[in-house]
Amino acid sequence: MNFKNKVVVVTGSSSGIGADAAVYLAQMGADVVLVGRNEMRLNDVKNQIISNGSSTPLVIVADVTRDCEKIISKTVEHFGKINVLINNAGILTEDNIENITMEAFDKMIDTNLRSVIQLTQKAIPFLEQTKGNILNVSSTAGMKAVANLMSYCISKASLDQFTKCVALDLASRNIRCNAINPAAIRTPIYRTLGIDSEEEQAIFNTYQSRYPLGRIGEVSDTSAAIAYLTSDAASFITGTLLNVDGGALVAGFD
Ligand SMILES: NC(=O)c1ccc[n+]([C@@H]2O[C@H](COP(=O)([O-])OP(=O)(O)OC[C@H]3O[C@@H](n4cnc5c(N)ncnc54)[C@H](OP(=O)(O)O)[C@@H]3O)[C@@H](O)[C@H]2O)c1
Repeated sequence: MNFKNKVVVVTGSSSGIGADAAVYLAQMGADVVLVGRNEMRLNDVKNQIISNGSSTPLVIVADVTRDCEKIISKTVEHFGKINVLINNAGILTEDNIENITMEAFDKMIDTNLRSVIQLTQKAIPFLEQTKGNILNVSSTAGMKAVANLMSYCISKASLDQFTKCVALDLASRNIRCNAINPAAIRTPIYRTLGIDSEEEQAIFNTYQSRYPLGRIGEVSDTSAAIAYLTSDAASFITGTLLNVDGGALVAGFD
């Protein structure tokens, strides 16, 4: 797969899945745009990309819930075009129907869904020019109910339907739209639930024992799937939700 002369915007690329995807795509020749709120961590990823000998990425310090216009305009100002939009930024919180507050629900939907709709809409004119594509980072939680992750599951199920609707509506303009649906991937996201490293390891051990392939996912697994779906090798694929889950869903787990 070759991403030479392709401009790839990766939201949430200061950490985890987004950071690794940005480094991986840059290694395949992409001009990468790093987007997140934490400038220090974005610069760490930028330096890693430069030290690999890849092209210098553009860093945009931005909150996806507020700064969609800025993300698109700064990208086009700097690189002149957009070939791929990777909607990866997301949050994970625990809640259920009894304890959810409307403020917490709004924050989840704003971050994991509304921002994706807004950013995608603003990118369309540029993606049309390049016959580009959109990749949404969803979750197996979009396909299966997970206890105490109600608002997260709702956000990802909606993202899956968004992916299919956008694929249908933009196909005639030669813009593809796909998603990956990972199961547990080893990233810092679990620590944002306020757990310590021992509790985090216990979660990973539980998932590992359930998944048919006998391990949890690594960011290299998601990066490989993202690269394939956003590359020209997948030019006949749109509206697809690709499970990156070690067989979890076919075994009935999340
Ligand atoms: N890890 C898993 O097991 C797993 C499984 C399935 C799906 N996913 C999905 O994968 C995506 C990435 O998660 P991860 O595991 O890599 O988590 P992570 O390491 O916590 O990274 C989350 C990223 O999202 C960014 N972000 C969050 N809110 C933002 C906002 N308002 N504006 C801009 N950026 C924002 C963060 O950047 P800043 O803090 O710099 O803003 C960070 O770069 C998420 O959509 C998540 O739902 C993860």
